[in-house]
Amino acid sequence: MLPVLLVLWQTASAATTTVAPTFYRDVLPVLANHCQTCHRPGEAAPMPLLTYQQTRPWAKAIREAVASRRMPPWHADSSVRHYTNDLSLSDAERGKIIAWVDAGARAGKPSQVPAAKRFTDGWRIEKPDVVIPMPEPFTVPATGVVDYQFIRVATGFTEDKWVEMAEVRPSAREVVHHAIVVMSGPDAYGEFVAGYAPGSAPQIWKPGVARLIPAGAVLTFQMHYTTNGKATPDRTQIGFKFAKQRPRQRVQSARAFNAWFTIPPNHPNHRVEASTVVPRQMQLTAVRPHMHYRGKSFEVKAHFPDGTTEVMLRVPKYDFRYQPYYFFESPVMLPPGTRLHCVAYFDNSPNNKANPNPKESVNWGEQSWEEMMIGWFEMLLPVDSGMRAPSGL
Ligand code: HEC
Repeated sequence: MLPVLLVLWQTASAATTTVAPTFYRDVLPVLANHCQTCHRPGEAAPMPLLTYQQTRPWAKAIREAVASRRMPPWHADSSVRHYTNDLSLSDAERGKIIAWVDAGARAGKPSQVPAAKRFTDGWRIEKPDVVIPMPEPFTVPATGVVDYQFIRVATGFTEDKWVEMAEVRPSAREVVHHAIVVMSGPDAYGEFVAGYAPGSAPQIWKPGVARLIPAGAVLTFQMHYTTNGKATPDRTQIGFKFAKQRPRQRVQSARAFNAWFTIPPNHPNHRVEASTVVPRQMQLTAVRPHMHYRGKSFEVKAHFPDGTTEVMLRVPKYDFRYQPYYFFESPVMLPPGTRLHCVAYFDNSPNNKANPNPKESVNWGEQSWEEMMIGWFEMLLPVDSGMRAPSGL
């Protein structure tokens, strides 16, 4: 008895860092900041990680998932630049979780829990001024693969609207793999407005920044549903909060794409490129690569008019299941004539576990067994520049 007591006493008095990590003091804050956006009821991840009771049975799997960096899912190379939506763990945080599991995944004292992070179940943007739902629910069948759905709905806007917050909300998240809302209007074809994907944040721009939805615009909900064994109706909606004043800068989506490729059967590393040139000065604030199951990697470089180049985004291991916009911590100024150049690689070999059929040669198409190659960009430009998007739209 005596030696044990001595050891405990020594540990406690010598250095608190040698005390085994506990759930409440050390692990819960990490889960709140890096995991619970997805690991809570009604969100994309299969199990909630809100309480000790929910987390303890998963301790071994959590250790493995964080040690192998599979969780949190984050596929950009963060050494290239910093992104505001980066959920990845620091080495210290990863080390804490691993040490906690290795020391027996103990609870510790609930009194040591830091203030709980609050999540809202309703709208995450301020109360929307307008909510536009899909015209009617779409019933996702119990099993099988569901084709992408393209569901059009008129905004009914009779005047131009400046939107400073936008959020896409599925009614049945368990069957919505991702949802994208694009608009077409008098002079805009297929411009990205907002999207929903597991763990994604709504679009909330800085004061003075807004997106124009022109009078008469028509929205298309591009819905990718997945079946989960139970027929489930979903009626996704989009909410808009309008700016009270005319903004100083407008948000404009642009893209570079290549729809003219053929990926040969069994090819493990097929390269496809796309570019767009910026016609006048603007700021690049975010990039989102889009490919389907055979997507392997994606890189975007800016070639500036002075001959220099800079990597904007590098996704070394693309994962079809997670396709966030990568939001830049510091926007990049692009002088006129800057070329944004995207290089994608596709893996059409049997080694790609997601590959629906390595024996096919694959072309551009909207269905997930076909392929796409798009670099989406979010730009800021002065509101009075009176210009449309850069080329590629
Ligand atoms: C962007 C959403 C998201 C975030 C953030 C996230 N997860 Fe997950 N997690 C998922 C999804 C979706 C699955 C199920 C599909 C899969 O395995 O990819 C999952 C599965 C898991 C699994 C079980 C399967 C496996 O891969 O072992 C564990 C364990 C896990 N997550 C732990 C964590 C931990 C710990 C964190 C935070 C450090 C975290 N996750 C952050 C979405 C997320």
